[in-house]
Amino acid sequence: MKPKETNVKPATGKLGILIVGNGAVATTFMTGVLMARKGLAKPIGSMTQYDKVRVGRGDEKRYLSYNELVPLASLNDIVFGCWDVYPQNAYQAAVYAEVLKREDIEPVRNELEQIVPMRAAFDKNFAKRLDGDNIKRSEKTDACDAIPTRWEMVEMLRKDIRSFKQEKGCDRMVVLWAASTEIYVPINREVHYSLQALEAAMQHDDREHIAPSMCYAYAALVEGCPFVMGAPNTTVDIPAMWELAENTRMPIAGKDFKTGQTLVKSGFAPIIGTRCLGLDGWFSTNILGNRDGLVLDVPENFRTKEVSKLSTLETILKAEDQPDLYTDYYHKVRINYYPPRNDNKESWDNIDIFGWMNYPMQIKINFLCRDSILAAPVCLDLCLLIDLAARAGRCGTQRFLSFFLKSPMHDYTQGEEAVNHLYRQHTMLKNALREMGGYEADEEMD
Ligand SMILES: NC(=O)c1ccc[n+]([C@@H]2O[C@H](COP(=O)([O-])OP(=O)(O)OC[C@H]3O[C@@H](n4cnc5c(N)ncnc54)[C@H](O)[C@@H]3O)[C@@H](O)[C@H]2O)c1
Repeated sequence: MKPKETNVKPATGKLGILIVGNGAVATTFMTGVLMARKGLAKPIGSMTQYDKVRVGRGDEKRYLSYNELVPLASLNDIVFGCWDVYPQNAYQAAVYAEVLKREDIEPVRNELEQIVPMRAAFDKNFAKRLDGDNIKRSEKTDACDAIPTRWEMVEMLRKDIRSFKQEKGCDRMVVLWAASTEIYVPINREVHYSLQALEAAMQHDDREHIAPSMCYAYAALVEGCPFVMGAPNTTVDIPAMWELAENTRMPIAGKDFKTGQTLVKSGFAPIIGTRCLGLDGWFSTNILGNRDGLVLDVPENFRTKEVSKLSTLETILKAEDQPDLYTDYYHKVRINYYPPRNDNKESWDNIDIFGWMNYPMQIKINFLCRDSILAAPVCLDLCLLIDLAARAGRCGTQRFLSFFLKSPMHDYTQGEEAVNHLYRQHTMLKNALREMGGYEADEEMD
C-alpha cells in the first residue's frame, strides 16, 4: 500500500533547539544527543529513534520506524542553545548535575563548552530558591538589580532567538522549557483568556499574572518557533496562548514531562480499570535531591507540580463511568527533598484496590529511577515531533504529544478532557504519524 501525497515539508537544514534552563534535564539531553551522534552512546527510551508504527492491514501490513514514515530532523542537524539563571556552560552544568559519569561527558566536552547560557528572563518571586545572577536587566534604568518589565523580557528574548538563528544558520527553531517549575499561577479569566488582555498585561508589567515563562512562550511563537512546556507551569495552557499559536500558525505542547512515577501510574491504572477492579486510594510519594527537588520544596512551587500529578488518575478511573468502583477514592501525591539521592529519585506507590464482594487488596510499586535519564529521550522526541508538526502545517495544541506529558493540554473551556491513559495516548501518537505520513489512521491492534 502506497502512502498518499502529503504537504509535510522536508527537514532540510539545521534545527536549532533553544532550551530554557541548563540544568540536569537539559544537560543530560544535550550530552546524550552529542554522544549519540559520535556513535558513543545510544538514545535509549526515545520513540523517534526506536519505535515502529504499523501501516496497512493484512498482507499489506508493514512496520515503519518514525523516520521511514515521516521526515524527521536528524540528530546531526541539531544545534543547541540555552538560557539559564546561572552562567556555567553546558559542560560545567552537566558535571554539576552529577547525572552522568565524567566518562560519558568528556568525549563531547568541547561541544558542551560552546553552549553558554544566555541571560535568563527571571523573576525570583517565581522560584525563590534560585539565586544566580545571569539574568536580564532592564536597559531603561541604571539600577543594577532592575528586573525588566514583562514586555522588555519579551523583546529581549525575541532578540536572543533571532540572533541565535542567524548566527548558527538555523533553518528552523524549537523552544523547549526545561527550567525550574514556577510558582502556581492560577488561571485568571481577565488576563489569560484573550491574547489582547495578555498582551496588555505584559505591557503593564503585571508581575502577578504574567510568569517569566509566558514571556519565553510569547517570544518563541511570535518569532515562528514551536514551544514545548516541560514543567507543569500553566504558561501555554491558557486560551490567550492558544490564540497566539493559531495566529502565528505555530504548534504548542505541554505540560510536564511524563517520566517516572506518573508514567508508571498512567500505564498501571489501565490494569485496574480494564479488569473492573475498584480503587479506594492511591498514595504516591517520592524522595528527590537535585535542584528540581530543592525548588519543589517550596509549597507554592510544589502546588504547580501537585495539580499536574493529581490530574492523571481522574481521567482514567472515573466515578461517573463506574460509580461502584471509583467514587471518592483518595489520591495523594508527595515530593520530599532529600539531597543524598540527587537525581536518582525513588518513588513509592501504595495502591488500595478492592475486588469480588469488596474484598480489599494492596499493590506496592517501588521505582528507583533516574529522573533526567528518563526525561532526556522525552525532550528529544518532543522537539523532533513538534518540529515535524510545524512542517506539516499543524498549529495550536498538539494532542498527539500527550503521550510524553503528565498533564496534557486540552481545551478545558469547551469541556474537553485530557487523555492520560498511556495506551490511548500511544494510539493517538501513532495515528498522527500515520496521517502525516500519508496513511490512514486506525485503531487496529498491533
Ligand atoms: N526530570 C524529570 O523527570 C522531570 C519530569 C517532569 C518535569 N520535569 C521538570 O523539568 C524541569 C527541569 O528539571 P531539572 O531536573 O533539569 O531541574 P534543574 O533545577 O536541574 O534545572 C532547571 C534550571 O532552570 C533554570 N531556570 C529557572 N528559571 C529560569 C528562567 N526563568 N530562565 C532560564 N532558566 C531558568 C535554573 O537555574 C536551573 O539551572 C523542572 O521544572 C522539572 O520539574 C522534570
